[in-house]
Amino acid sequence: MKIAILGAAGRMGRKLAELAPAAGLEVIAKVDVADGFDRDWPSETEGVIDFSYHTALPSAIDKAAAEGIPYVIGTTGVTPGEQAHVDAAAKKIPVVQSGNYSLGVNLMLELVRKAATILGPEYDVEITEMHHRHKKDAPSGTALMLAKAANAGRAEIGAAVDGFTYGRHGDIGERPDREIAIHALRGGSVVGDHTVMFAGELERVEFVHKAQDRAAFAAGALKAMVWAKGRASGIYSMRDVLGFS
Ligand SMILES: NC(=O)c1ccc[n+]([C@@H]2O[C@H](COP(=O)([O-])OP(=O)(O)OC[C@H]3O[C@@H](n4cnc5c(N)ncnc54)[C@H](O)[C@@H]3O)[C@@H](O)[C@H]2O)c1
Repeated sequence: MKIAILGAAGRMGRKLAELAPAAGLEVIAKVDVADGFDRDWPSETEGVIDFSYHTALPSAIDKAAAEGIPYVIGTTGVTPGEQAHVDAAAKKIPVVQSGNYSLGVNLMLELVRKAATILGPEYDVEITEMHHRHKKDAPSGTALMLAKAANAGRAEIGAAVDGFTYGRHGDIGERPDREIAIHALRGGSVVGDHTVMFAGELERVEFVHKAQDRAAFAAGALKAMVWAKGRASGIYSMRDVLGFS
């Protein structure tokens, strides 16, 4: 399968290009705004993996939809207006979108959802994430997915919240019941650490994931590309690719 990588000069793009051959994928276009990279993909391209910047997503996915080729989105920080392009494209082509393509985080999403149902709203949910100093969006797409998983687990017992709390500062008063809070740390070269804490009166339960190498994300995204080939149009998650649902 001949693929294009969008954001090919970046940290993830380079890792994807390195691992693509082992996944049976041939990279025929390395697209990036950086010097020495392709500005577009050629007509024989059979799929696109996008780990670039959210502003690049609308025009790129519109083009893939017009060409009828599958699209794998790793890029995070996507705005509602940009997401509308993704949703429209998914009516024509298979789109896989995930804030995290690692097996471990996708397992953690399942466990967090289950824990939130079993432990209930008496256990306060606090999520922390830490990433390298170059990361541009906050909180991470993964932290948001973990918060949504906890909230989905709470929804099963009628205890979901409408929105999340992002950090705390100043005279904020007592913690509201059912609050789900997310805190973003930045520094050094951290690839990606996430902790979901369920804090009860008598005990705390913590789920921790630490990515040691970007290959954990790249391998999952390449797997998603292979999986997406020949699928019906629609928007899919890594849950679908891994067969959890
Ligand atoms: N879903 C996941 O599993 C996962 C894992 C890691 C990173 N990410 C996300 O992937 C994205 C890239 O991460 P990174 O660490 O590789 O970032 P990076 O900054 O190292 O690389 C991004 C690349 O995109 C390029 N780019 C910017 N605008 C572009 C445009 N209009 N067209 C083409 N290329 C463009 C940049 O020049 C850069 O080379 C981020 O949104 C990050 O949050 C997702």
